[in-house]
This record gives sequence, structure tokens and C-alpha cells, in this order.
Amino acid sequence: MADTQTNNTAPVMIARELSRHYTVSRGFLRGHADVKALNNVSFELQAGKTLAVVGESGSGKSTLARQLTLIEQPSGGSLQIGGVEIANADQSQLKALRPQVQMVFQSPYASLNPRKQIGAMLAEPLKLNTSLDAAAREEKVRAMMAKVGLRPEHYHRYPHMFSGGQRQRIAIARAMMLQPRIVIADEPTSALDVSIQAQILNLFMDLQQELGTAYVFISHNLAVVEHVADDVMVMYFGSTVEYGSKQAVFAKPLHPYTRALMSATPAIHAKDRGAKIKLEGELPSPLNPPSGCAFHGRCPYAAERCKSEVPQLRPFDGQLVACHRVEEITARPD
Ligand SMILES: Nc1ncnc2c1ncn2[C@@H]1O[C@H](COP(=O)(O)OP(=O)(O)O)[C@@H](O)[C@H]1O
Ligand SMILES: [Mg+2]
Repeated sequence: MADTQTNNTAPVMIARELSRHYTVSRGFLRGHADVKALNNVSFELQAGKTLAVVGESGSGKSTLARQLTLIEQPSGGSLQIGGVEIANADQSQLKALRPQVQMVFQSPYASLNPRKQIGAMLAEPLKLNTSLDAAAREEKVRAMMAKVGLRPEHYHRYPHMFSGGQRQRIAIARAMMLQPRIVIADEPTSALDVSIQAQILNLFMDLQQELGTAYVFISHNLAVVEHVADDVMVMYFGSTVEYGSKQAVFAKPLHPYTRALMSATPAIHAKDRGAKIKLEGELPSPLNPPSGCAFHGRCPYAAERCKSEVPQLRPFDGQLVACHRVEEITARPD
């Protein structure tokens, strides 16, 4: 174990078959149902790299984020952070690990305490996790503020005095205060004006360059993902349907769902990545999961087998894909 921690090429986070199921009430006298929000998701995240997780709303992205940030306990599977298996970690190991994984949320309005001045808010993680004195904390806070593009006079201001983009800079600064090895960012630019989104994405990239932080970057927007990702994981209905390097996934999307997402993103489809697939219908209801491949009801290539047999994630052409028909689909002239 000690070996994996000192080895620079060891992944900083490894998820194996992570699952999270919720029990929900179906209403008076109707009993309970199991919502399988996340099913057997596996990945490896290398130091200083970005894994992008994409999928429509409801595909399980935020559920995954809550498992990775230790906000919830998975129903099954394994999660290793810095070589430590979370399920077996004792209290002191968990205490040491928590600061290593920080989160940035979609809404910087909801995630910042409205009663705290920015300087005090950013100093909090240092107060809780380090023995730095007040002067040293202020120095670190001011240095981080400068890094994320906030001005010195912002130190004594309150969150409501900032624009959405500036608030997200504050949230990013807070996540970075303890120099975490991993940041999980859940749709961090989705709530921002388009003109501001690129600035925040560039800030994420600059900080990664400078600090070597690894990101799990969650987005429903493939154009955003193309900008930031090293690897891409496409999720549908709680499961991984495609996983590969950004180059591979964008040059040659394999799963019909990935192709449909690309077709729906004009900036990306304009680069001509094969036949356009229109995404019709909606995600199935998790209270009434479909048989076979969860995508079969919306898939133009679905065959009989797809209705009955769940496709496993398997290697194909240097990527991983969960589709019975990938051989036939990729053999077609576009
Ligand atoms: N705490 C919960 N209890 C019950 N169902 C949940 C809970 N959290 C998420 N879900 C369900 O899990 C599925 C995935 O949700 P979520 O992870 O929020 O997806 P995404 O972030 O991709 O939009 C949805 O069907 C959602 O309703
Ligand atoms: Mg979400």
C-alpha cells in the first residue's frame, strides 16, 4: 500500500463497480421501491488529469459525485483514494482523506454562506485542518484569491455582492484552499452565462496546470467536456455506456447514445462525426426500469436482443462500450 502512495503514476482515485441505490416510498399503501441511481461504475483517475462524466439530467452524475466526495456511502463496490480503500478506512484515515477530495457545485448561490465575508469563508478550511495562525491564514487566502482572479478588496465582501461568475471563483478558491489532490466539479459552469463559462473553464485548467489537481468534471454539455477532458465517461440511466480517451470518444463515438449526444451539440456535430442520431423520448423512469439495454426504447439500432439482454461494458477499438450492436453500427458507412 505504501508503495502505491509514493508511486507518481498510481491513480489518485479508483472506483470499482460503485453502486448507489435508494429506497423510496411510492406513496400511501403502495410500499417502497428501489431506485438504482448508480450501477457498477468503474474508472481510474490519474494525478493531475481530468475525467469528464457526461449524460443527460437523471443519468446518475450527481449520485456518483456524492459517493466520490464521501458525502454518502455507496451501496456496493469499492472506492480507493490515494491507495486507501474507503470501506476499510478507520476514522483517522478518513479524517486525513477528506481534505484531499473537494467539491465544486453547480450553483455558487446555494453553496456559499451568505453571512460570511469571503476572506473568513476561505480561511475556514485552514482553521479546521491546519495549525496556521491568523496572519498566515490571511496570507494564504489572499494568495488564493489572486490565483482565482479575485481582487484584494473582495476580502471583506459578502457573497451577495458578487456576480455568478465571481461566486464560482470563490467556490473554486474554497475548494482549492487545502491543495486537494482531487476536485469533483458537478456542472460547475451550467448555471453561468455562456460568456462567463469559458472564463471559469480556463480557470479550472490553469489551476490544474499550476497545482496538479485531478478533476472529475461532470457536465451534460459535450462542448464543455471537449474543452477540459483527458478521459470521457458517458453515463446513461445510472450506468457507464462508453468510456475512453477524449480523442477516441470524440473522433469515433461508439455508443448510439454518445452519438446522439454529439448530434444534439451543434458545435461538435459541425465537425462531422458520422450520421446524426436524433435523441427522442426521455430517460426511462427509475421506478419502472426497462428490460435489456436501458437505451433500447430510444435507440434507432435496437434489435430483439437489446430488449432482453443487458449489454456489458466491454473493450472495443481501444475504448469501452456497452452495446450489443457496436460491431454492426460501426461497420456502416455514415
Ligand atoms: N436521494 C435520492 N433518493 C431517491 N432517488 C434519487 C436520490 N438521488 C437521486 N435519485 C434518483 O437517481 C437518478 C439519478 O439522479 P442524479 O444522480 O441526480 O442524476 P444527474 O445528476 O445525472 O442529473 C434520478 O432518477 C434521481 O431521481
Ligand atoms: Mg446532477
